[in-house]
Amino acid sequence: MGVKKIFSGVQPTGNLHLGNYIGAIKNFVDLQNESNDCIFCVVDLHAVTVKQDPKLLKKNIRETTATFLACGINPQKSIIFNQSSVSSHSEASWLLSCVARMGWLNRMTQFKEKAGKDREKASVGLYIYPVLMAADILLYDATHVPVGEDQKQHLELARDISKKFNTDFEAPDFFKIPEPLIQKSFARIMSLKDGTKKMSKSDPSDLSRINLTDTDNEIINKIKKAKTDTNLFPTDTYSLKSRPEIENLIGIYSSLKEKKLEDSLNDFKDQNFSFFKDKLSELILKKISPISKEIKRLNADKGYIDQVLKDGNDKANEIASKKIENIKKKFGF
Ligand code: AMP
Ligand code: TRP
Repeated sequence: MGVKKIFSGVQPTGNLHLGNYIGAIKNFVDLQNESNDCIFCVVDLHAVTVKQDPKLLKKNIRETTATFLACGINPQKSIIFNQSSVSSHSEASWLLSCVARMGWLNRMTQFKEKAGKDREKASVGLYIYPVLMAADILLYDATHVPVGEDQKQHLELARDISKKFNTDFEAPDFFKIPEPLIQKSFARIMSLKDGTKKMSKSDPSDLSRINLTDTDNEIINKIKKAKTDTNLFPTDTYSLKSRPEIENLIGIYSSLKEKKLEDSLNDFKDQNFSFFKDKLSELILKKISPISKEIKRLNADKGYIDQVLKDGNDKANEIASKKIENIKKKFGF
């Protein structure tokens, strides 16, 4: 297969965790290293759909950028930028919100989850969030979008918007129809405390996730405290169905080890959970420790991070500003 045009985004809302790494950022790095055209965006406009502390936002934008770099995204190979610095995103979002249908947005489950019971009090931005996401992707003619499982429905919406625009404006190839790239296995990493809940930045318990900035001791402690059960170590994948916490831990192990679940189960045949947890901690430390140290080093070098973003913003702006002009022309402006 030829070169793919990759676009993806991560919100600068702090606490990037192992789920973000396994579900998204690790794949960004692999796609970059397979010589695809990659653009990775710190989606700060998405972040403000829920209230952010203005003083913290800037810090989090830099920290997310530092995380991209520390995980192996190379600004010489990929474009790294922040969304609010390229005004075409806001503009395209408005125009595409006139293409998207209410009925489509009403189906979005993430809005329902995030808005919770008091939907009337959610921001309008949170409701049209997936339209902004479609604008991000379509502005760059991205062909492939690596995301975690939770973003699949938003990608489908981006595809619907793209198709409707092309039909409405009788421009069959104007927008690409982007393909989601979702890992076949381990696409959803779960909380260490509750295997039915996603590992999340916003979980009030820090013990529920491994942050990419955690120290070695914090990681060891969190894995020690991760929920298991009193049954024996599983021997087949079938029995994992009713043991979500165990499935998640073995999933994390398998994903970092790049092994099949079945093979990981074999590795620990006749062992107990404490032996498994020691090995799991060792493996997480091997992968995450260098990233954590590099994030801390880069966080102290604001000048470098700002320069990376400035270079990326210029490159992104060059592409997006041309596309937005063409979108406006289609509307008749
Ligand atoms: P966010 O932190 O919501 O901006 O998400 C950034 C990326 O990480 C998206 O592609 C998500 O799908 C992915 N992601 C977030 N949480 C998880 C998780 N628990 N497991 C797998 N992928 C995740
Ligand atoms: N909504 C995505 C998330 O929360 C982040 C995002 C914004 C994104 N724009 C995007 C992902 C464009 C892929 C492509 O995870």
